[in-house]
Amino acid sequence: MTGFILAIDQGTTSSRAIVFDDAMKVAGVGQKEFSQHFPASGWVEHDPEEIWSSVVSTARSALGNAGRKAAEIAAIGITNQRETVVIWERDSGKAIYNAIVWQDRRTAPLCARLRKQGLEPKFARKTGLLLDPYFSGTKIAWILDKIKGARRRAEKGELLAGTIDSFLIWRLTSGKLHATDATNASRTLLYNIIKNRWDDELLSILRVPRAMLPEVKDCADDYGQTDPKLFGAPIKILGVAGDQQAATIGQACFEPGMMKSTYGTGCFALLNTGADLVRSKNRLLTIIAYRLGGETTYALEGSIFVAGAAVQWLRDGLKIIGKAEHSGELASKADPTQDVYLVPAFVGLGAPHWDAEARGAIFGLTRNSGPAEFARAALESVAYQTRDLLDAMKKDWKGATSRTVLRVDGGMVASDWTMQRLADILDAPVDRPTILETTALGAAWLAGSRAGVWPQAKDFAAQWALERRFEPAMDKAERTRKLKGWHKAVGKVIS
Ligand code: G3P
Repeated sequence: MTGFILAIDQGTTSSRAIVFDDAMKVAGVGQKEFSQHFPASGWVEHDPEEIWSSVVSTARSALGNAGRKAAEIAAIGITNQRETVVIWERDSGKAIYNAIVWQDRRTAPLCARLRKQGLEPKFARKTGLLLDPYFSGTKIAWILDKIKGARRRAEKGELLAGTIDSFLIWRLTSGKLHATDATNASRTLLYNIIKNRWDDELLSILRVPRAMLPEVKDCADDYGQTDPKLFGAPIKILGVAGDQQAATIGQACFEPGMMKSTYGTGCFALLNTGADLVRSKNRLLTIIAYRLGGETTYALEGSIFVAGAAVQWLRDGLKIIGKAEHSGELASKADPTQDVYLVPAFVGLGAPHWDAEARGAIFGLTRNSGPAEFARAALESVAYQTRDLLDAMKKDWKGATSRTVLRVDGGMVASDWTMQRLADILDAPVDRPTILETTALGAAWLAGSRAGVWPQAKDFAAQWALERRFEPAMDKAERTRKLKGWHKAVGKVIS
């Protein structure tokens, strides 16, 4: 058996597939963007058929680009945008409604109603999450409420629900398996993370029939095999994890106290807390980092909705940069005497504020403020938000200390200026690894280690290599002054 692994990374704006070779190096890549649908203000949907066809075509391209046939691939690992849900027919495999995406805010009124009924502590205690439209449970409830006859059909077992991993597993195995993994389940608002099972009480509050939910497995487990018609030969699916958890694995953050932060559209910082299920008093999430061999490892998560999206706004909205890569260079030219702050609450604020109604604002403009100051404010907003998460983590858990190092990945981390500013604002070292494909690598490792062709955790962690460490260099008074300005600005946008 070869050590080639196919990782499928189904993200929010594109589907990617990567073939890794037996030295865990990238051998071939396929990537395809797909359409975003915004049917109403605050609504975000994907077409499940487009997701499916993009996954199949990118997997085929990755195989082709690596010069490999399906029969040479030891296993598939799947990782995915989390929380996004699909409901489909058991018989036909067809979705009854578009996928409702994690960014979608349509269930804010339902969340507010549940909060008013005093139910947030119950949901938080059992799931580690908060009552925010971000999570899957209220999105499933919305589809069942709106599509005629859906709840009755779901009760009869005619309809199935799942996050994207689950939908892909169903399609890849031609309907042989309805399964998900513990990390994806832990983002649904329906899964009890202490007992590691779907929670009947929460299911009945949201009126989601148990019969429509997938079986929950370990991250490295047997998820069936692909229909031979898809790639020419069957391939075993042996690994599944939500994308942020997969990145945590890809960054080899296996020890309690290790932390990673991924800067994509949003930013998601995960701190491994080991077997300790740490309750946040500062509105962070408690989630399953991974479940291996039946053992659950937990994490504290801080979720920021806008990170790279702020750079996209500089490029596509303000049109002050031609390419995202130019943002750091422009920011470096900003006038140091101007204190301009951007609060990028374009879709509300995530952790630690969880304010769905807040909107973005820019403060401190003078007659001299221009593109460079806007660029610096956008990039610094990402650093400030990460700092707020780290502070909350330190308050919540003694395992997060002033020695905590942040391992970073995602598109934004290519900018040296941004990473240096991040270290300066955090007052903590920032480590950028040589391999930046950490999400796909994490999924590949789950599958490769399960297949017995890749090393186990300890040896895998040993191959993690540092490309560059950014040490904090800003003087303390300057940092304190800047943070004060940031908090004042955030205070002004909270609804
Ligand atoms: O929780 C949402 C997150 O999983 C989305 O990640 O990289 O697809 O934007 P990404």
